[in-house]
Amino acid sequence: MTEPTPLLECRDLTVGHGKVSVIRDFNLSLQPGQVLAVLGPNGAGKTTLMTSIAGLIPRMAGQVIVNGTPLRNGRPGVANRSGVVLVPDQRALFNTLTVRENLYLARKKGGPELAETMEMFPALAKRLKLAAGELSGGEQQMLAVARALVQNPKVLLIDEMSMGLAPVIVEDLLPMVRQVADQSKVVVVLVEQHVKLALEVADQAIVVVHGSVHLRGSAAELAANPARLEEAYMGGAADVAV
Ligand SMILES: Nc1ncnc2c1ncn2[C@@H]1O[C@H](COP(=O)(O)OP(=O)(O)O)[C@@H](O)[C@H]1O
Ligand SMILES: [Mg+2]
Repeated sequence: MTEPTPLLECRDLTVGHGKVSVIRDFNLSLQPGQVLAVLGPNGAGKTTLMTSIAGLIPRMAGQVIVNGTPLRNGRPGVANRSGVVLVPDQRALFNTLTVRENLYLARKKGGPELAETMEMFPALAKRLKLAAGELSGGEQQMLAVARALVQNPKVLLIDEMSMGLAPVIVEDLLPMVRQVADQSKVVVVLVEQHVKLALEVADQAIVVVHGSVHLRGSAAELAANPARLEEAYMGGAADVAV
């Protein structure tokens, strides 16, 4: 039996800043509806990886393939039109514009109706007329995710959604991400510092240390092996499967 075409693939991806490579020979294959947790210490290269998949920094080598089609290098517009949408670690909202305006600006032809997206975020739906800058941190993060969803993503990249947020808020936000993957069959790549919470919603997980994958496996397997997880974080043996 032939394998179905993955929705997101990275093949031998090498990427960095200037001439310095940060992520080296990175490989990944995800099917529709799968959630991948990308874990690892600060400075490991997680944001570099995410911005590269989104086409925002050019690749030094390798390929990013969406639904069987390789993306042209360093072309964020091409990546976005192929359905790759990044929720950056800085939420990058228009703070003086209202919630509704932020969403309208991001909307795409053929994308979901605003009301449909808002069903997933009832707290936000009540604040459509408020300026984004007046929202709480958790609501701003919801808006950042909602703004990605109105772009009708196939591949949703979420970089540290919990940055600056209390764990109780993250506990509410992460299940929404799972719901998006289940309902819309998008691939979600989730960079997250709250390891336990991330592993609860993810299918697969990787630990990236110094630009390489030090551990990979199902999220359940990683969650069941905290010692292995800790060892990988500390930079233990490279590319081990749980
Ligand atoms: N714009 C940049 N220019 C040069 N070096 C950078 C830039 N952004 C990140 N780096 C370096 O790349 C490495 C990985 O950073 P980053 O991808 O932000 O890691 P993480 O998101 O895992 O914390 C770090 O050593 C960082 O200093
Ligand atoms: Mg980062």
